[in-house]
Amino acid sequence: MSQIPAHGGELINRIIEGGERDKLLTAAEALTVKVLNDREMSDLDMIASGGLSPLEGFMNQEDYDSCVEKMRLSNGLAWSVPIVLSATSDEAGAYETGKDIRLDAPDGTPLAILHLEDKYEVDKEKEAQNVYRTTDSAHPGVAVIKEMGNVYLGGKVSVLNRVTYADFPKYRLDPAATRKLFAEKGWNTVVGFQTRNPIHRAHEFITKCALEAVDGLLIHPLVGATKKGDIPADVRMKCYEVLMENYYSTDHVALSVLPAAMRYAGPREAVHHAIMRQNYGCTHFIVGRDHAGVGDYYGTYDAQKIFDEFNHDELAITPMKFEHSFFCKKNGEMATNKTSNSKPEERFFLSGTKVRDMLAAGKTPPAEFTRPEVATILVEAMKE
Ligand code: ADX
Repeated sequence: MSQIPAHGGELINRIIEGGERDKLLTAAEALTVKVLNDREMSDLDMIASGGLSPLEGFMNQEDYDSCVEKMRLSNGLAWSVPIVLSATSDEAGAYETGKDIRLDAPDGTPLAILHLEDKYEVDKEKEAQNVYRTTDSAHPGVAVIKEMGNVYLGGKVSVLNRVTYADFPKYRLDPAATRKLFAEKGWNTVVGFQTRNPIHRAHEFITKCALEAVDGLLIHPLVGATKKGDIPADVRMKCYEVLMENYYSTDHVALSVLPAAMRYAGPREAVHHAIMRQNYGCTHFIVGRDHAGVGDYYGTYDAQKIFDEFNHDELAITPMKFEHSFFCKKNGEMATNKTSNSKPEERFFLSGTKVRDMLAAGKTPPAEFTRPEVATILVEAMKE
């Protein structure tokens, strides 16, 4: 069986190699420079590898407006979260449309050339309201866009050097590499699991339920920027490893990371997360309760309902929707409303937020919530 195509049909690769790269590196020496921050570097890296296919660069105004207003690119293809590069008005004055800009890492490494097609002023309030469903600066995603410059720079990128990451290199598989892995394993159907938390019992339950219906499970934690208070990626990776060793069948489960930054855009980000996982070769994608949510900005199942706003042929990846799961004390197992008739007082609900509070108070999360091996790692990490 052939693999699921990338979103838009073709897996993008913006990495320039060989003689062409040498030529561009020399030409880049004379270009105006823009230094990228961590978030911009992670977007660039996602574009480079095709994780954001069909995007070949940062959005121009036509695509941006269409994305913000209609959740589609200007060609009509589903796209829910803007991928943009911002500049202050002063900075933008130095950049000329139609010319190239060099994009550097903070240490001066030239990362890419941006072929500047478009620079445009944006309405941040409108972007926040449409994408995040709020203009409240207390929302971590809204806070980020409000801090960004008012001018966005659009255009294709030619990547000369990949962003380098020192941490967990063996888990950093590009979309082409996960696709190869799935083919080697003979998985025709693969469900992707997004997470920004350690895997707790509810996550384990829904991933295993999903896996029963497909050939493989890709545990695909997001390791780009997350908000203050979220558990750091290096601690989470130890939790995933210990679970893989002890609680999952490694013949049917793979662990790899997504270098994207978290937006906390709830429903719109659920669609975005699904599209990225399609690019990595997943045919299915888990959407549980309050996916990519934060605080009380979104309803429990808003991130599931948003998929109904797309026609069946607009998204090739299939969302697998899960109800709010809990430990059912009556039956001694994980369950949801669908699988347990227990009374409310017999249900043990915990969230990542509650666990973080528990850990901060020096308490060990209970076994109904977290496997003991994971609890040990989390308690130890709190001491450091
Ligand atoms: S997220 O920001 O990446 O969505 P988290 O890591 O907590 O946060 O969630 C990963 C996935 O598990 C999401 O699809 C989320 O909806 C789902 N999920 C988390 N907790 C539960 C739960 N108790 N019941 C059902 N789904 C859940």
